[in-house]
Amino acid sequence: MSETEGGIPYFDELFKLIGSDEEWCRAFGKNVHWGYWEDPAKADGSIESFVEAADALTRKTVSEAPLRDGIRILDVGCGFGGTIQMLNEMVKDSHLIGVNIEERQLARARERVQAKNGNTIEFIHMDANELHFDEPFDVIFAVECIFHFNRPRFFRHIKRLLKPEGRFVITDFVVKRWKMPIFRTLNAISRNATLATYGDIDLSYSLTRYRKVAEEAELRCSHDLDISRNTLPTYAFVLRQIKKVADAKRSTRFRKATEGLDKATRWGILGYHVIAFSHPE
Ligand SMILES: C[S@@+](CC[C@H](N)C(=O)[O-])C[C@H]1O[C@@H](n2cnc3c(N)ncnc32)[C@H](O)[C@@H]1O
Repeated sequence: MSETEGGIPYFDELFKLIGSDEEWCRAFGKNVHWGYWEDPAKADGSIESFVEAADALTRKTVSEAPLRDGIRILDVGCGFGGTIQMLNEMVKDSHLIGVNIEERQLARARERVQAKNGNTIEFIHMDANELHFDEPFDVIFAVECIFHFNRPRFFRHIKRLLKPEGRFVITDFVVKRWKMPIFRTLNAISRNATLATYGDIDLSYSLTRYRKVAEEAELRCSHDLDISRNTLPTYAFVLRQIKKVADAKRSTRFRKATEGLDKATRWGILGYHVIAFSHPE
């Protein structure tokens, strides 16, 4: 895919913004995910605070996996390589692979992240719904991207690609099951704005549904961490940054879609979780 429009809508916007606005570049030029604040009351809305919080979310996620030296790690939907970059600092003599559906993101990841500590790094163009590798992985991550995938299909690939003692860790927006009707209503209201901004994403998974899809793929949910409250300052920060989107129509849609997520999270309809899966014992 070229640097021109036609990919995932928010990445079309992001490529323009990180090329023209220094604050957007610092905020989203490395990690393209929400932030984690240990103490949300201390979030001051600054770029520095968000950059730290985005790294903190990566740290929180990778800490759910048993990392050691000399392992094979896969990061699906790797964005600009922020997670691989952190792992590259944490392990030695390991093989780190990031995959993405968009070549333009991979090009930026390759430019940004160079292997160190005896590690090898590859950024490969591959669809998460069609994963194919000859060798399995000790650890697999999917940070804030699974809502783009066909989850049952993706989980079947993970089952096949995860070593017997391996761990698979995701972060995702998770609907509270008993609030599904109100989620559906909210979702319908912001559907057009969401589609135009974030693409055809599916945020309708509850924890129960995750357990079921894992079970169907013969995996099990081994740990769940609800960090919704720690992500809340992200919304005010992102909404402030969105004001800089020049095109009024796109800016309005971007804002509406993000406000929808903000409300759903504040009203306790949607949560933000780090979830780990493994093979059954
Ligand atoms: C919100 S971004 C998260 C990026 C990265 N994981 C991070 O945390 O910085 C979602 C990512 O999923 C990727 N993606 C979407 N659909 C995909 C697919 N079918 N296969 C692989 N990657 C995909 C997008 O290109 C994007 O990089």
